[in-house]
Amino acid sequence: MTTQTTTSMTPTAVEAPPVIELRDIHVSFKARTGTLLRADVVNAVNGVSLAVRRGETLGIVGESGCGKSTTAKVLLGLQKPTSGQVLFRGEAIAHRNAAARKRIGRVVSAVFQDPSTALNSRMLIRDALRDPLDVHGIGTAHSRQERVRALVEMVGLPASALDVLPTQLSGGQRQRVAIARALALEPDMIVADEPTSALDVSVRAQILNLLLDLKNELGLSLVFISHDIQTVHYISDRIAVMHGGRVVEEGPADHIMATPDHPYTRKLLGAAPSLLHPELATKNRSAQ
Ligand SMILES: Nc1ncnc2c1ncn2[C@@H]1O[C@H](COP(=O)(O)OP(=O)(O)OP(=O)(O)O)[C@@H](O)[C@H]1O
Ligand SMILES: [Mg+2]
Repeated sequence: MTTQTTTSMTPTAVEAPPVIELRDIHVSFKARTGTLLRADVVNAVNGVSLAVRRGETLGIVGESGCGKSTTAKVLLGLQKPTSGQVLFRGEAIAHRNAAARKRIGRVVSAVFQDPSTALNSRMLIRDALRDPLDVHGIGTAHSRQERVRALVEMVGLPASALDVLPTQLSGGQRQRVAIARALALEPDMIVADEPTSALDVSVRAQILNLLLDLKNELGLSLVFISHDIQTVHYISDRIAVMHGGRVVEEGPADHIMATPDHPYTRKLLGAAPSLLHPELATKNRSAQ
C-alpha cells in the first residue's frame, strides 16, 4: 500500500486526505466488574481502522457493547486510544492536549442519544446555542445573535423556541436544538451516536431526514451510529459493521445490504424487526 509507483503519482491522482482517519485503534478499560484484587481489562476497541471522507455518511452498526460509542469518542477526541493513530486531515495527533481537543472540537461535533444531557436544563435555548460561539470567541455580540437565529431556523424550529428552556420542548425538538448546537461552529463533520434511539418512533424519521438534509446542504461528513442496520442503511453511503471491538465488514451501504459477506452482518440483517419508521421504508431518500 505504501510502495510508491513512479507512473501514477501525478498531482491530480492524489486524493484529499480524509477528514478523520483511525489507524489500528485499540482502547482498553479496567472492567467495571473488576475488584481491587483483580482488575480485568475490557478491550472495547480492538484494532479499528476507519476513514471518513468529506461529504460522506459513514454508518457504524453493531450490537450493544461492540465498541461503537468508544470509537465515536475517539473520533471526537474525547477518548484517548490505548494504541493506534488518529489522523486529522492527514496529520497525526500525537498528544491529546487541551489545544488539540479545542481544534478538533471546531471541526467535529457530536449529537448524542439523549439531547437532555447535551443541554443545560436551566439555560434558555438562545444561550445554549450561543455558548459554543462565546467559548471559541467567534464574532461580535450582534453576529452571534444572528447566528443563533439562523441555527434554529436551519433545524426547523420557530424563533419562539429561543426563549424557552429545554424542558418546555418535546424530545424531538430538544434533539433539533442539540443538532443546532452541534452546527454552531460550522463543523466539517458530525458524529451522531444513536441520535434517534431515545425518541418516539413517530419523530425518528423527521430527525433522520433533518440530518440527511443538513449533511447535503452543508456538505458535511456524518458518522451515524445505531444498532439498527435498516436505519443505518437509510442514511449512510458506507457501512462499517462492528463486532467485538472490530470492524468485521465495511463497504458501500447498498452492497453490504444486498450481499453481506460476514456471518455477523447476515445475522444483523435477519434480526428483530427494524426500528425504522415504516414511512421511511418506501420513501425516496432524496425527498424532503
Ligand atoms: N469507561 C469505561 N470503563 C469500563 N468499561 C467501559 C467503559 N466504556 C465502555 N466500556 C465497555 O466497553 C465495551 C464497549 O462499550 P461501548 O459503549 O463502546 O459499546 P456500544 O457499542 O456503544 O454499546 P451500546 O450499543 O450499548 O451503546 C462494553 O463492554 C462497555 O461495557
Ligand atoms: Mg453506545
